[in-house]
Amino acid sequence: MPRPFIVGNWKMHKTLSEARDLAITVRDGLSTSSDIDVALAPPFTVIGSLHEVLKGSSVSLAAQTMHEAAKGAFTGEISPLMLKDVGCTYVILGHSERRHIFGETDQAVMKKARAALDHALIPILCVGETLQERETSRTFDVVDRQTEHALRHVTPEEASRSVLAYEPVWAIGTGRTASPEQAQEVHTFLRKAVARSHGDSVARVIRILYGGSVKPDNAASLIAEPDVDGALVGGACLDAPSFLAIVAACRP
Ligand code: 13P
Repeated sequence: MPRPFIVGNWKMHKTLSEARDLAITVRDGLSTSSDIDVALAPPFTVIGSLHEVLKGSSVSLAAQTMHEAAKGAFTGEISPLMLKDVGCTYVILGHSERRHIFGETDQAVMKKARAALDHALIPILCVGETLQERETSRTFDVVDRQTEHALRHVTPEEASRSVLAYEPVWAIGTGRTASPEQAQEVHTFLRKAVARSHGDSVARVIRILYGGSVKPDNAASLIAEPDVDGALVGGACLDAPSFLAIVAACRP
């Protein structure tokens, strides 16, 4: 069984002083036991500062997106080299807000996943269907296509270190969580897809997180599902007590 992994995706929230306060409270609120992995994905502007705050702690840093090139004339973009330089361990790729608001394609996620691994960043690869796709029975087709692209140029060894995140678009920021059974159904499907593309041993260890309205009161029942290895938390990670309560609920 993979170790549980809880990631707080801060999205476009927190000024520098607010970010430092939140990160310090999270850092100090976590016990030092190493039975669970925790990462924070703050906005780019505060990553460097939080690296100082979190140095020597058990909390890792993730970025929320990146460009695939190491450098170049790409105004407004951030490269994997830069993320590594300021202390990121992980990078979230293909989040549904990137896909649906900013037009990020499966091809782009494929290139970014390769680039992240080339720069020793661990990709957190997001997949998930819209409400309309679910209602027209296309959930499995959609997550299969997104996962296949994201992992297409990733070796089995790299895939075993990578992270998948199932985030049904209809559950993000809506307060409408997937039921534990709905999450488990898709997670099992994803694990089988990884087994087909990268082998059984990779499928056993790759971490598959659930995201979409995870809160302190539903986290335990989601993580209790055999194929749910952790959570990608949005709104509830902006408040330290609620994020810490989610981490506590997910401890093995
Ligand atoms: P919410 O927890 O606010 O639904 O957001 C989930 C998410 O998008 C995490 O990446």
